[in-house]
Amino acid sequence: MAESSSSAAKAEDELRYVQYHGSKEETYLPAIRQLISKDLSEPYSIYVYRYFLYQWGDLCYMALDSQNKLIGVVVCKLEPHRSGTFRGYIAMLAVQESHRGQGIATKLVCMAIEAMTARDADEIVLETEVTNTASLKLYERLGFLRSKRLHRYYLNGNAAFRLLLYLKEGTAMKRPGDSGDLGMPPRMEEYRGYGPAAAQEDTINSEGTVT
Ligand SMILES: CC(C)(COP(=O)(O)OP(=O)(O)OC[C@H]1O[C@@H](n2cnc3c(N)ncnc32)[C@H](O)[C@@H]1OP(=O)(O)O)[C@@H](O)C(=O)NCCC(=O)NCCS
Repeated sequence: MAESSSSAAKAEDELRYVQYHGSKEETYLPAIRQLISKDLSEPYSIYVYRYFLYQWGDLCYMALDSQNKLIGVVVCKLEPHRSGTFRGYIAMLAVQESHRGQGIATKLVCMAIEAMTARDADEIVLETEVTNTASLKLYERLGFLRSKRLHRYYLNGNAAFRLLLYLKEGTAMKRPGDSGDLGMPPRMEEYRGYGPAAAQEDTINSEGTVT
């Protein structure tokens, strides 16, 4: 027992956290696709990865082991939202199954939050399956709030929570009529076959109850 926990700690110690760069595409894009698609109920096309990485590669962080194998990745974007906010979006997050529960995803998400904060983001949003306990726990521990429940959001029919982290005071006031659009690029919505119009939304009130 002591041996296995010390080897897990050692594996964590050896990881390097690096920012993605276009010059690393050939080396890392196939690994990023493979890692992320492993746990998805719906595969993303190569265009979805390029959409994010070509424009916001500096908001993608990777955890690499001593052999430069990809252990974890977070992929994001940051752009003005029509509500008037400068909105960050965490599009993808995954850690190799063998390395989960060691704080790797937390570290990657914190790096992404810091980078978006440094670039003056007002808020960060993402969607996650309502049954994804690890992801909900991770994000809620970092201060994300459940803002909406999106029915049948995923192709497998599962619902999602939209999670939201305010980075600046007063951001909530800027966006009273949040239309709840999806953060993914249009190509992604077309690929999935349905978009915001098809996803029914519930708003979650301050007591955490769906309305
Ligand atoms: C979600 C995911 C990225 C978490 O990665 P990770 O490196 O294990 O995460 P961390 O170790 O930083 O922390 C995760 C938190 O969830 C908890 N957790 C991990 N697995 C869990 C599980 N199966 N059930 C409940 N909680 C779990 C951890 O204990 C930790 O919370 P704590 O610090 O309060 O104890 C990883 O499970 C994964 O890749 N899942 C598949 C892809 C995915 O679901 N991505 C998120 C889409 S939004």
